[in-house]
Amino acid sequence: MPDYIGAIDQGTTSTRFIVFDRDGKIVAVDQREHEQINPKAGWVEHDAKEIWIRTREVIAGVLASTPLEAGDISAVGITNQRETTLVWDRKTGEPVYNAIVWQDTRTDAIVRELGDVDQLRRVTGLPLSTYFAGPKVKWILDNVDGARERAANGELAFGTMDTWVLWNLTGGTNGGLHYTDVTNASRTLLMNLETLDWHEPALELMGIPKSMLPEIRSSSEAYGDVRGTAIGGTPVAGILGDQQAALFGQTCFAAGEAKNTYGTGSFLLVNTGEEIVHTDSLLTTVGYKLGDGKATYVLEGSIAVTGALIQWLRDRLKIIDSAAEVEDLARTVDDNGGVFFVPAFSGLFAPYWRDDARGVIVGLTAYANRGHIARAALEAAAWQSREVVDAANQVADVPFSELRVDGGMTANELLMQFQADVLGVPVIRPSVTETTALGAAYAAGLATGFWSDQAELKERWAEDKRWEPQMAEDVREKEYARWKKAVQRSLDWQD
Ligand code: G3P
Repeated sequence: MPDYIGAIDQGTTSTRFIVFDRDGKIVAVDQREHEQINPKAGWVEHDAKEIWIRTREVIAGVLASTPLEAGDISAVGITNQRETTLVWDRKTGEPVYNAIVWQDTRTDAIVRELGDVDQLRRVTGLPLSTYFAGPKVKWILDNVDGARERAANGELAFGTMDTWVLWNLTGGTNGGLHYTDVTNASRTLLMNLETLDWHEPALELMGIPKSMLPEIRSSSEAYGDVRGTAIGGTPVAGILGDQQAALFGQTCFAAGEAKNTYGTGSFLLVNTGEEIVHTDSLLTTVGYKLGDGKATYVLEGSIAVTGALIQWLRDRLKIIDSAAEVEDLARTVDDNGGVFFVPAFSGLFAPYWRDDARGVIVGLTAYANRGHIARAALEAAAWQSREVVDAANQVADVPFSELRVDGGMTANELLMQFQADVLGVPVIRPSVTETTALGAAYAAGLATGFWSDQAELKERWAEDKRWEPQMAEDVREKEYARWKKAVQRSLDWQD
């Protein structure tokens, strides 16, 4: 068997191809960004054809820049930004509209019209929200000329980015596979968590014809072989939404184990084993399902804006030139100077689920400077995670004793220390921080026998660094109360 395994990570801002060896170490990476299209306030789109071009480019890029050949890669896994929604013509492969990105809030009126936010919660694990795919499909069918009729005729296909990449990778208009996996399907508001099948009443509610939907498969099985591209002939054998992939890459396989990934947003997932835990403040979703095995479920606290706030400081406020500079800028001050920043740019997700919340900066005085804003922006990532941890602790049997972290912002030492401080538990970063791609590679490698079992993967997990809490409890709770007051301002803004 070839010695390497690949993962395509189709994320919100870029697409990467990463090749791992048997030890789970990275041997090659290529990455390309794609355009963020903002036609109106609150609208975020991606050009799906550009994403497919970038996908091919990163695969070719890895092979061109290393001695690796296609035959060295035993299988490939796919991981992806979840919920981002595309509808395309099965015959021509042409999207009928740009992909509508998970952060996009254009469906707020649709969501309100659909009625009680909790009507699908028991079955799908999700509140009605602009975040998920179902309302986005409805928007496309309602707003693109002729789309509803073409969908009814079976001409159109719906997919999240895993589906789009898999369909193209396996032949596209030439017999491409129209599949998704349980983790991605569990983010549509259209899947029954128990049966792991499409939920007809949800389809009826949103007027979505079943013929558009991909077949729901497990997260780890040989789906089919790549056709074309630089790795033609390689089996595709793993699909996981990116946050579930990170949980898998962190080897959080046991109930109670949790991870937080700091990307564009932050996503804290707690494994609840085979139990489907219901709560109103967090999402209940599928963690993974390996082949014919039973599904493992998770509770998820999704935070829409963490890393995206640092990009905003760079691109809109222009107080830093690169994201990495935020730590130096935040260190120019001793504390936040009383400034709190609630980045509710897409409303507030967990634990509030309020599409109408808006961003606020509070506590400003003439003393406040760029450093305080930068510090408040970093602290916002940590406070939002604290709120999610509190919500998870309320429903979990065992309170958190530590938090495994990954994602780009874990390079930020100031943030990691502050995170440990406000949680009051150690924060631990593993030696391989590319856990998302690693998780997809693990899923593919388990299906193809590249790795033997989960125990083997668990042995590989190694700690790189840990941050112990240092903040006095009374300070922590006083600051937390102020954060909550700032959140209240954000929630009240549009009254
Ligand atoms: O739910 C959205 C999430 O999957 C996006 O992740 O890392 O692409 O920002 P990321």
